[in-house]
Amino acid sequence: MTDPQSLIEPVNEDFDATHANEEHTAPAHPIHKVLSFVRRSARLDTRLQRAWDNYADTYLLDIDAGNARLDVREGFSLTEAYIQSTWGNSNPLIVEIGTGQGENVVAAAAAHPETNFLALEVYDPGVAHTLLLAGKQGLTNIRIAQVNAAELFKVTAPGTIAEVWTFFPDPWPKKKHHKRRIVQPELASNIHNALAHNGVWRIATDIEDYALHTHEVMDHLNGWKNIGTITVSLPLEHVGKGNADMAADMPHADFTESERFDGRVLTNFEKKGLDAGRVIHDFTYQAVALR
Ligand SMILES: C[S@@+](CC[C@H](N)C(=O)[O-])C[C@H]1O[C@@H](n2cnc3c(N)ncnc32)[C@H](O)[C@@H]1O
Repeated sequence: MTDPQSLIEPVNEDFDATHANEEHTAPAHPIHKVLSFVRRSARLDTRLQRAWDNYADTYLLDIDAGNARLDVREGFSLTEAYIQSTWGNSNPLIVEIGTGQGENVVAAAAAHPETNFLALEVYDPGVAHTLLLAGKQGLTNIRIAQVNAAELFKVTAPGTIAEVWTFFPDPWPKKKHHKRRIVQPELASNIHNALAHNGVWRIATDIEDYALHTHEVMDHLNGWKNIGTITVSLPLEHVGKGNADMAADMPHADFTESERFDGRVLTNFEKKGLDAGRVIHDFTYQAVALR
């Protein structure tokens, strides 16, 4: 099993991997990927280290390449056969991207023993805390992978996943960082391929600008149907960091969103948004046939 500390490599937050080719000198990173996360060194406290030591063998999938970008190891693919051999059954699989401390995915796994769950998280303490929650309850239907979710969906076999959840993704508020937001057309296309017929991608955010971003990426994308039932008014232009208030004076339009997903427990991220007076935006996109 990979030791969490061995993966850590400082990453320059402002490094723009998409423009690395424009430099005349060699780029800082050999692979030109825009990542939705920054790998920060974070020591595990005694409790989390113990959880890692006790439960990693049971719950943590050995599928990462062992590099700082948390790529998936070469040759791996998430197939029906892998699911059957790992979870020991072929129950529907729900994948949550960016599980943070794991409160939501572990609560869902405990409430739905008839469903398999896969938690994807890049941050060591989050992974360790999820191991702790799952291990304390002795759950058998959950696994955790410490990989870049965007990479895993590139190697997922068609039709293998029932639902994908992305709740409170990192907001990347600066305009120059909006391309780091995890909801992007390429990921959507790979999730579309991975989902079973009529499978859904549920997304939630407390950031109004991210709600607009989600509509822009998803609402007219081939193969996706927004099956929300409520109408929400949003500004039509983007605002950068610290300028959220400016959005109120911008022209608005109506968009379709969903009621709060009742399968989600209140995590600290959602609570923080609510405490700050922000509105929670829920989305349900269904994978339908490509036009
Ligand atoms: C704002 S937190 C929200 C956590 C959780 N969903 C919640 O509501 O409490 C976003 C999480 O996504 C994780 N993340 C960001 N990019 C990721 C990626 N490409 N693959 C897996 N996890 C990612 C971050 O490490 C972080 O823990």
